[in-house]
Amino acid sequence: MCGIVGYIGDKQAYPILINGLKRLEYRGYDSAGISILNKTTLKVFKKKGKVSDLDDYASKQDTKGTIGIGHTRWATHGEPNDINAHPHISMNGHFILIHNGIIENYSRLKEKLTDRGYKFVSETDTEVLANLIEYIYLKGKVTAEIAVRLALSKVVGAYGLAIICKGEPDKLIAARKGSPLVIGVGEGEYYIASDATPIVEHTKSVIYLNDDDVAILSRDGLNLKTIKNDSLTPKIQKVDLDIGEIEKNGFDHFMMKEIFEQPRSIFDTFRGRVSLEKMEIHLGGLYSVLPKLVEAKRIIIIGCGTSWHAGLVGEYLIEELARIPVEVEYASEFRYRNPIIYPDDIIIAISQSGETADTLAAIKLAKQAGATVLGICNVVGSSIPRETHAGVYTHAGPEIGVASTKAFTAQVTVLAMMAIALGHERKVLDKKDYEELIQELYAIPDKIEKILKSNNSFLKVSKKYKDATNFLYLGRGSLFPVALEGALKLKEISYIHAEGYPAAEMKHGPIALIDEKMPVVVIATKDKSYEKIVSNIQEVKARKGIVIAIVSEGDTIIKKLADHVLEIPETRDELAALLAVIPLQILSYHIAVLRNCNVDQPRNLAKSVTVE
Ligand code: F6R
Repeated sequence: MCGIVGYIGDKQAYPILINGLKRLEYRGYDSAGISILNKTTLKVFKKKGKVSDLDDYASKQDTKGTIGIGHTRWATHGEPNDINAHPHISMNGHFILIHNGIIENYSRLKEKLTDRGYKFVSETDTEVLANLIEYIYLKGKVTAEIAVRLALSKVVGAYGLAIICKGEPDKLIAARKGSPLVIGVGEGEYYIASDATPIVEHTKSVIYLNDDDVAILSRDGLNLKTIKNDSLTPKIQKVDLDIGEIEKNGFDHFMMKEIFEQPRSIFDTFRGRVSLEKMEIHLGGLYSVLPKLVEAKRIIIIGCGTSWHAGLVGEYLIEELARIPVEVEYASEFRYRNPIIYPDDIIIAISQSGETADTLAAIKLAKQAGATVLGICNVVGSSIPRETHAGVYTHAGPEIGVASTKAFTAQVTVLAMMAIALGHERKVLDKKDYEELIQELYAIPDKIEKILKSNNSFLKVSKKYKDATNFLYLGRGSLFPVALEGALKLKEISYIHAEGYPAAEMKHGPIALIDEKMPVVVIATKDKSYEKIVSNIQEVKARKGIVIAIVSEGDTIIKKLADHVLEIPETRDELAALLAVIPLQILSYHIAVLRNCNVDQPRNLAKSVTVE
């Protein structure tokens, strides 16, 4: 959710912090703030709105100083305004901090501090923490580090924190529990950030903090310990992230750049794992659990939003190709409904960010029940890969647009590889099918390239329906989750109400909505339900609905029925989701841009949902 950045070294902190916040703005964008310590003078700049609003305001003032912290916020406690924006300063001005996460027991702590004379200016839980640290610091006459560790031992909740103490002006303190934090290691300098994107232009050496870690950073070195004061040896890793991957590279928006990256991101996801020469699929990350997977009696897939949709495609793929029963659950429901989990169950958690709070909690629950938990994640070094027993990275590269696009197709690619490999191991697939599926998977990037060339026809259709107030998306089999994903993409970035349905369900209710103003996007590729979906299109047309059909190249039947057809190349039914989703992503993108919506930062959303 919120973005954190911090710097200590010999360089001017402000340009590093503001640039870092621009890179992190996709994590939260309702307000932003920076604080800089220059010797003993503490300066705080906070603004409601975008990071550019903060920069307009702060860059006109004295921002000198070589230590500082910055934050871009996604509001949890208190509306987005200048006062609730971070950093938050303690009542007597000794501590200033920025925080990602939620302090769950903040109202009890606030009451206790109020009884002891503390006054609060904001509605945030973060200010309570700033005052708690200060109270312990002053009352106990302890160092800043001890005050931070003692305060954190009283806190229930999640946090990624960067803290400055005015009385110890050559230190920056970072702490993590449940909210990611990365330390960048330079020459006589350190960076703190909620992910590696703002760090990579300065250094590729990073330390990922674990839960309950506290790092005390100074220009002379780093001291890593636990909240309980046990010393830790920092593990410095090289981050494999190129600066070009986090820039727009000529596209107007990250979302479109990421849509156009899909031929490459899918290829990168199967590169080194699928071999055409050897005709085999090798998923190294699953090697240790392969026997269990092959023998599995049941697989439960968990995820949220788009990742849950990928899970639904995965259900279809694994059941169809490997004949293992699969259940797919929203992580948020799974964790709270006392699910039945057997020790021989395999749980697959899917997440782009690897930080989604509900998915992480569901993983912990499944582990406690003794199940084997696997992860399919995009962000290397994030929490979910570290919490799971084994897993597969998607290698889609950083996804900055808040609406997930290339992460979805990379997740489906991993699930397809798993399903094909399991089908082969379990002898469900014969040699011909196995090899054909491998070849077809290999052909997907070129086929997507071809779809992307039709961008202009997608734009034309988008122009016609940009003012619609409702959309219906229909699909069958593995294309039903694609219909759900199409509807989600449209609603989250264009704010048009949209619903996805299995095409056959339409007549059980949604058909009542259809009139001459209702665009219905029907995924109608040539597969085993083709005849049925043609009937569904006729049902829509009989009620004067507008049909935008995604069809297989060369389709002549639907062309006569539908108002618009958008063609995609043919592939095996099992892999059609990877192609059919592309026109839906592009339609949503164009409609949102035509409606002047901020596609990369849609209202109320944030990229990684680290709160419940
Ligand atoms: C939709 C979207 C969200 C995420 C969901 C899960 O475009 O981005 O629905 O898919 O918040 O996030 P991850 O995959 O990071 O766990």
